[in-house]
Amino acid sequence: MTSADQQHAQKMQVAEAAVKFVRSDSVLGVGTGSTVNCFIEALAASGKRIEAAVSSSEASTTLLESHGIEVIDLNLAGTLDLYIDGADEFDSHRRLIKGGGGALTREKIVTAASRSFVCIVDESKKVGVLGRFPLPVEVIPMARSFVARQLVSMGGQPELRQGFVTDNGNVILDVHNMDLVDPVKMEKNLNNLPGVVTNGLWALRPADVVLMATGSGVKTFD
Ligand code: A5P
Repeated sequence: MTSADQQHAQKMQVAEAAVKFVRSDSVLGVGTGSTVNCFIEALAASGKRIEAAVSSSEASTTLLESHGIEVIDLNLAGTLDLYIDGADEFDSHRRLIKGGGGALTREKIVTAASRSFVCIVDESKKVGVLGRFPLPVEVIPMARSFVARQLVSMGGQPELRQGFVTDNGNVILDVHNMDLVDPVKMEKNLNNLPGVVTNGLWALRPADVVLMATGSGVKTFD
């Protein structure tokens, strides 16, 4: 098996483990990304029926609907019991970097609207200190240069994600080399910059459970 095959097998393994957390006939929050795509496939294959899903991206909506799963607006759903999503990095406190797929704003909204967040990852996502993965920051287009200058003054090196527009019509700055030793403080500071819509730190509200696929089974952090 190539390492890409191994990573895909791990994503399928953790996706199947996450299906066990889903209550039949519930309204489920569904995230975005390749691991979540495996989860949607595993959910459909399991035969477990959910009432509907609230989706964090147009891409996940398309995949959910292709499996006959109804997608409803968060405004109609109220508080959700469970949100399932992937991450780009996680640490031992279940704090995350997300947004590699650019869906961070809707992901953060659905996280906040859910009682429990189960994060599904393969073992390549585990880090000691967050920040190896460039931190995505979603920015209103007119504020792009202003926010980039602020990020430089905070010690980061922002890079505009080329040719990418979010589902909300905004741009993403991927910030390299930010000092994320105190991710709670950084998440708040970034949220305070005018023009920033969301940043990809999940530290104020970390995941409640991280399921990590390994070569020898799924490990649970809770
Ligand atoms: C999407 O915007 C992200 O937050 C994803 O959750 C994250 O990038 C993980 O994606 P993969 O499962 O594809 O690694």
